[in-house]
Amino acid sequence: MNTQHNTILVLGGTGKTGRRVVERLQARGLPVRVGSRAGTPPFEWEDRATWAPVLDGTGSVYLSYSPDIAVPGAVDTVRAFAELAVRSGARRIVLLSGRGEPEAERAEQAVRDTGAELTVLRSTWFMQNFSEDYMLEHVLSGEIRLPGGDVPTPFVDIEDLADVAVAALTDDRHAGRVYELTGPQSLTFDDAAALIAAAGRPVTYVPVTLEQHAAELREHGVPDEVVELLTYLFAEVVDGRNAGTTDGVREALGREPRDFASYAAAAAGAWTATPAASR
Ligand SMILES: NC(=O)c1ccc[n+]([C@@H]2O[C@H](COP(=O)([O-])OP(=O)(O)OC[C@H]3O[C@@H](n4cnc5c(N)ncnc54)[C@H](OP(=O)(O)O)[C@@H]3O)[C@@H](O)[C@H]2O)c1
Repeated sequence: MNTQHNTILVLGGTGKTGRRVVERLQARGLPVRVGSRAGTPPFEWEDRATWAPVLDGTGSVYLSYSPDIAVPGAVDTVRAFAELAVRSGARRIVLLSGRGEPEAERAEQAVRDTGAELTVLRSTWFMQNFSEDYMLEHVLSGEIRLPGGDVPTPFVDIEDLADVAVAALTDDRHAGRVYELTGPQSLTFDDAAALIAAAGRPVTYVPVTLEQHAAELREHGVPDEVVELLTYLFAEVVDGRNAGTTDGVREALGREPRDFASYAAAAAGAWTATPAASR
């Protein structure tokens, strides 16, 4: 057993945000452990026997829960993991949470209750959902068919989120803080499509109803629990309540967040590497 507790454990360390956090910590020469089912040792949320081995020698944790902090059962699982982390000697937890999601705030409180030094990254929707997640296929097909109406979302660039995570993992000043993370502009899906098109990938936004969206997902073989999650997110999160921008990135890093046009320019490779696919 390692009693030094100097390892930084990055859960979801192969995912969109975790991978970026790992890269930054490694670039600084800090001791990092990647938490993933393919990690060494492997970590599996559903198998609690895998939790203690990844916590051995861990002093700080970047906690991104998979598949989503809003799914049923997430709060209890995150609470149990955070309790074990603190009992195992970890002092600091940086929790990736979701903005405007009551379930996510319950998970935040559960982690806070463990007594860990907690920094909450309460994030809006990621820009990278368009290039590294479920909206990639929409972009490649030429039509973003989503039930987002004309509600604006202040999409955040997860390069910024990863910078904030690393600051919180390595600097005591962020303990106890809740950072609401957004980009600098609120954009409708129509605006986002126009900026992606301007970066070289022609695409349009086609608003659909929640029911149409769910039916189209099922037609494409998307599992029921994912359909339910996306329906919940579009109904509860993209309803206008979370349309405003926040100062979280500036509060944490002392600089402005990156804008969507810069993201789209950097992501253009993801949209040109594959020929337009049909969904
Ligand atoms: N997307 C958004 O716009 C958004 C906005 C706000 C908050 N969030 C939150 O972001 C979190 C997801 O973070 P992300 O997008 O960076 O991750 P991601 O890209 O969805 O990747 C998932 C990560 O979790 C690991 N993983 C998957 N299933 C696992 C399991 N059963 N046990 C252990 N590890 C598992 C994966 O690695 P392996 O496959 O190698 O195991 C991978 O590293 C969610 O909690 C979500 O609520 C997302």
